[in-house]
Amino acid sequence: ETYKLIAMSGSLRKKSFNTALLHSIIELAQEDFDIEVVSIELPLFNDDLIDPDEPEVVTALKQAVREADGLLIVTPEYNHSIPGVLKNAIDWLSLEPGTPLRDKPVMIAGASPGILGTARCQIHLRQVFATNRANVLPGNEIFITHCKEKIDDRGLHDENSINQIKKTLLEYRKWIEFWKRNAKN
Ligand code: FNR
Repeated sequence: ETYKLIAMSGSLRKKSFNTALLHSIIELAQEDFDIEVVSIELPLFNDDLIDPDEPEVVTALKQAVREADGLLIVTPEYNHSIPGVLKNAIDWLSLEPGTPLRDKPVMIAGASPGILGTARCQIHLRQVFATNRANVLPGNEIFITHCKEKIDDRGLHDENSINQIKKTLLEYRKWIEFWKRNAKN
């Protein structure tokens, strides 16, 4: 069985290392997952827009996440935290009642030119997803440090990172299956 994932890159930049990493992950995952990349260029979150005028792009994104077996986030770290555009998308998705994030198995990865490879951003993301009762894959962290040496126009070419991603994708598959077995009816 292939599982359907919705994927988001936290960078809007054309030559983004993280978007390139996302596409390499999609290639490595193609046997087990069907991954659809969605745009996070949404209006700025504003509570006044929710009801009854929720932007159509937001309604569509919520629906896509709700129907998916999992959510894949590949993002840079900005100022030791989550890029605003990504946080904005999560805020839109987070609204109760019925947030599509609830119980959703989530996998996180990131690339940075520095030595921490988005570690601090990922800690914050875990906290934000926990608030929404999403199920972020425990352990199995994918930090691509020194990404300028590991990612180029053709994607990720660092063997250790590739092996780490392959292992993590296997764990993520099991994680999705675990939550399917334990789903509340
Ligand atoms: C950064 N960058 C960065 N890197 C990092 O490891 N920790 C950080 O806190 C920050 N902070 C930060 C803030 C802002 C506003 C920018 C624009 C950049 C550097 C960042 O990792 C680098 O620009 C990456 O190339 C961004 O990812 P993409 O766009 O290549 O995917």
